[in-house]
Amino acid sequence: MGTLIKNGTVVSAEQSARLDVLMEGESIAAVGAGLSEAGHTVVDATGLLVMPGGIDVHTHLDMPFGGTTSADDYTTGTQAAAVGGTTTVIDFALQNQSGTLNEALQTWLKKSDGKACVDFSLHMAVTNLHGEGGAETLKEMEEMTKFGISSFKLFMAYPNVLMINDELMFRVMEKAAALDALCLIHAENGSAIDVVVARMAAEGKTAPHFHALSRDPKAEAEATHRAIALADMTGAAVYIVHLSNEFALDALKHMQARGAKALAETCTQYLVLSIDDQMPGKSWDEAKFVFTPPLREKWHQEPLWNALQDGSIKVVSTDHCPFTMEQKALGKDDFRKIPNGGPGVENRMQILWHFGVNSGRITQEQFVELSCTNPAKIFGMGAKKGSIAEGLDADIVLWDPNAEYTIQAATQCMATDYSMFEGWKIKGNAAKVFSRGEMVVDNQTQPGKFLGATGRGRFVKRECNAGGFAA
Ligand code: URP
Ligand code: ZN
Ligand code: ZN
Ligand code: ZN
Repeated sequence: MGTLIKNGTVVSAEQSARLDVLMEGESIAAVGAGLSEAGHTVVDATGLLVMPGGIDVHTHLDMPFGGTTSADDYTTGTQAAAVGGTTTVIDFALQNQSGTLNEALQTWLKKSDGKACVDFSLHMAVTNLHGEGGAETLKEMEEMTKFGISSFKLFMAYPNVLMINDELMFRVMEKAAALDALCLIHAENGSAIDVVVARMAAEGKTAPHFHALSRDPKAEAEATHRAIALADMTGAAVYIVHLSNEFALDALKHMQARGAKALAETCTQYLVLSIDDQMPGKSWDEAKFVFTPPLREKWHQEPLWNALQDGSIKVVSTDHCPFTMEQKALGKDDFRKIPNGGPGVENRMQILWHFGVNSGRITQEQFVELSCTNPAKIFGMGAKKGSIAEGLDADIVLWDPNAEYTIQAATQCMATDYSMFEGWKIKGNAAKVFSRGEMVVDNQTQPGKFLGATGRGRFVKRECNAGGFAA
């Protein structure tokens, strides 16, 4: 006795085909043409696309940052994800500089305990090395991989808070190479940027758009090249997070062409928002768009779309890091005090579909590849997530390519009182969302509502596969 999805078109990263999908318990039991209905509950997917649940590999839920804490906790954040068709998120545990990796892990497991509504995993951000030559922390990396954390994050920005130096980066990369773990890099030259930031502040340039102007795209390109070059020296696989501009993309492609094991994501906001359109420097509420890396000049968007098309960028995530306007107002008179980040997890699939597939920039198969399949494979959970095949978790989205939807803060699940895409009319939305076989969202009958139990989400253990480069 299972649930049979009939009459839909199953879309994978490779192809689209008229197939039925049978879910039994929490798993996919069969995929095939004309599966028998006998004994099963039938869900009619006529006119709908049947896709793997989305995977957003870059969120910051309940994260202390910039003197406050991101506004979505594991409940609101994962419910918002589900409503938008995303059934797995990978969040970040941050090592306290004076603390251990295990302490960070326990802190984040506690944040998620009883609260997560869809499945989630964690990257571990290393901010300091303890012991002779970093031995204690490097040893802890091994323990993390045994727990199922196969990716380590390093920040090359945010001096005095999260930023690491090249020695730490190199040592962590050497260890990651030995473990077949993946190194995630926030690539910006934080030291150079801070010189510019201080100068701007001294000159009274404190409005939000100066945040964007203070962070040169070349500071991202430099750090991107440096991180990949150091990783290449150690043999580690490296994944550049939130790549935002063409100069950084050039650095990525340059190292990819030289055979470095280098991967990258971009985020929805960099594909559709820009300084030109969102941050003309007119009012303080442009603080909505203060995140790091910042919005870029509009001309950077097309090269990023092209990189999604040609495969040099493999993933679209959100860097979901939401703050309310009240929180953003901490920096009303000084962009240095604006908490950095924006709300996006709920709208990732809609934006990528509308501006990617509807406009002909990517195919529906590429949509699945960028938002579901590549994230699962790169992050070591392809055996359970990211594809529709027998034996995998029944994380499935019935996608309605014709559904029309207006993005509005007033109706969103995310905890912010604004949307980065307020009033945008989108064509294409999740109709029904299944997480491990359970229908947790039905946007056709109860739009924007999470139907499952709070706390049902589980931690996903991930394998070390060097970002897919391991043999
Ligand atoms: O502005 C951002 N992106 N905030 C979250 C932290 C980070 O750098 O990803
Ligand atoms: Zn970052
Ligand atoms: Zn070079
Ligand atoms: Zn981030």
